[in-house]
Amino acid sequence: MMVSLALDSAALAETYDRVSDRQFNHGKLLIEDLRVSPGERVLDVGCGTGRLGVHVAERVGPSGEVIGVDPLPLRVELANTKRTSNFRASVGNAEDLSQFAGGSFDVVFLNSVLHWLPEKLGPLREARRVLKGGARGGRIGITSAAKERPHEFEVVLDGVRSSLGLTGTAETFGSTTYKVTSDDLKLTLVRAGFQDPKLQIRSFTDHFPATDDVVAFYLASSFGNFLSNLAPADAERVKASLAAELERRRAPEGIRLQRHLIFAVARADD
Ligand SMILES: C[S@@+](CC[C@H](N)C(=O)[O-])C[C@H]1O[C@@H](n2cnc3c(N)ncnc32)[C@H](O)[C@@H]1O
Repeated sequence: MMVSLALDSAALAETYDRVSDRQFNHGKLLIEDLRVSPGERVLDVGCGTGRLGVHVAERVGPSGEVIGVDPLPLRVELANTKRTSNFRASVGNAEDLSQFAGGSFDVVFLNSVLHWLPEKLGPLREARRVLKGGARGGRIGITSAAKERPHEFEVVLDGVRSSLGLTGTAETFGSTTYKVTSDDLKLTLVRAGFQDPKLQIRSFTDHFPATDDVVAFYLASSFGNFLSNLAPADAERVKASLAAELERRRAPEGIRLQRHLIFAVARADD
């Protein structure tokens, strides 16, 4: 399916802000990997509602700065309610960073954003362009769903899809759509002009109180794309089957699901 940027709503944006602890927590690990330090200038591409951007702004301190861009105006609006002297967000997208001068950032990161981009090379070239080069070159950091290691939820969803005789794959249901393999991402980073890419897959275990919480999480994280290409009756059938399958994964802490994410860091020095 094609990802639409027209399905977001104020309610989805607010829900995302509330339920995005998962993205926030793995994002903090990415920021650790990037060794973001005081005084640095950082670009948060696909900043969403700005939770991670604010965290990074605290880390770079008053002599540093974090700028977020995101194509969804409602999420940018929420991000700007968190605006501080060194954090702000504006509407923009990964494909066109022309509002920023070349060589003007120490760090660019995309946290849970790359799997929403239909094409990766252009955005990574743009990230390379705005990063400082030279001996103290900048760094890029990425977390993304891994094509070779789908989230457990997507495996469950794929089973539900085929048991209901629906066409497509779990990806076509809009949970994480344009996934990439670690190998492809590594090659694309090098083609975009980055050095020494380091990639690893990290796994996370999530617990959800109920199926409705899983659906709400994927709907808000996909800015309304999840199940949006199904007829309403089919979407209801999928949700009912999902509930049965997910309940089988219930542990004392809740419905237990594993996620697997590529963490990639590379240097922009030449
Ligand atoms: C799962 S959210 C992640 C938000 C944030 N980075 C975080 O860690 O919470 C995915 C974000 O990717 C953004 N996105 C989608 N297409 C994009 C594009 N072409 N350029 C930049 N961001 C994009 C969405 O608007 C959404 O805010």
